[in-house]
Amino acid sequence: MMLPDGYSDVPAGKIAAVVTHLQMTARPSLLAERAGPWTLRRVADPDVDWFRDLFYRVGHHWLWFSRLRMSDDELRAAIHAPLVEIHALSYDGRDEGLLELDFRTARECELAFFGVTARLIGSGAGRWLMNRALEAAWSRPVDRLWLHTCTFDHPKALAFYERTGFIAFRRQIEIADDPRLDGFIPRSAAGHVPIIE
Ligand SMILES: CC(C)(COP(=O)(O)OP(=O)(O)OC[C@H]1O[C@@H](n2cnc3c(N)ncnc32)[C@H](O)[C@@H]1OP(=O)(O)O)[C@@H](O)C(=O)NCCC(=O)NCCS
Repeated sequence: MMLPDGYSDVPAGKIAAVVTHLQMTARPSLLAERAGPWTLRRVADPDVDWFRDLFYRVGHHWLWFSRLRMSDDELRAAIHAPLVEIHALSYDGRDEGLLELDFRTARECELAFFGVTARLIGSGAGRWLMNRALEAAWSRPVDRLWLHTCTFDHPKALAFYERTGFIAFRRQIEIADDPRLDGFIPRSAAGHVPIIE
């Protein structure tokens, strides 16, 4: 259903974001990166509690809720799916960045989750992690790498992706239950999206 022009009411208790889909259809040149004190490792058999914790620490400021709402079984199936690759960026003895690549559609890769924790935002780790993501994605036989980002995400995320070489091609409105009202994320998170009850 197409939304009409003008303002559309969003019910109390819900949040609404503008989602932008971006893609690249050829391997780009990598932007200059800073070799910081971080490393990346592929996590072949991710534990659900480990994943939830990292997903939460990277994403709760930006209201990433999708994986937090899953049961253990649902989450295990999502992160253990063949052709889904999970990588963690480690810094100072702790995992502080998440990269999830989904190769389940033939000849495509979705950058399903990408980000670093608040400790590392603005440090150069994001660009370094993106370069590793591009190498991992384009090392497989893909014709397209795509992702989506939304207006709850870090305000610099969209421009960061465009500098990387992603081109926007689709825009959607996403409406969801506010994850701060059912206990998945603290009420104090994401002041840029006020709670409306
Ligand atoms: C989106 C996100 C990855 C952007 O990363 P960031 O922290 O702004 O990125 P960086 O600090 O690595 O890079 C910003 C720029 O500063 C540069 N930079 C930062 N620190 C630097 C340093 N010490 N020396 C040299 N360059 C530096 C980077 O090279 C980069 O420049 P470029 O984009 O022209 O290559 C990050 O904000 C994030 O993880 N946010 C939380 C999760 C999120 O919103 N994810 C996106 C949703 S899909």
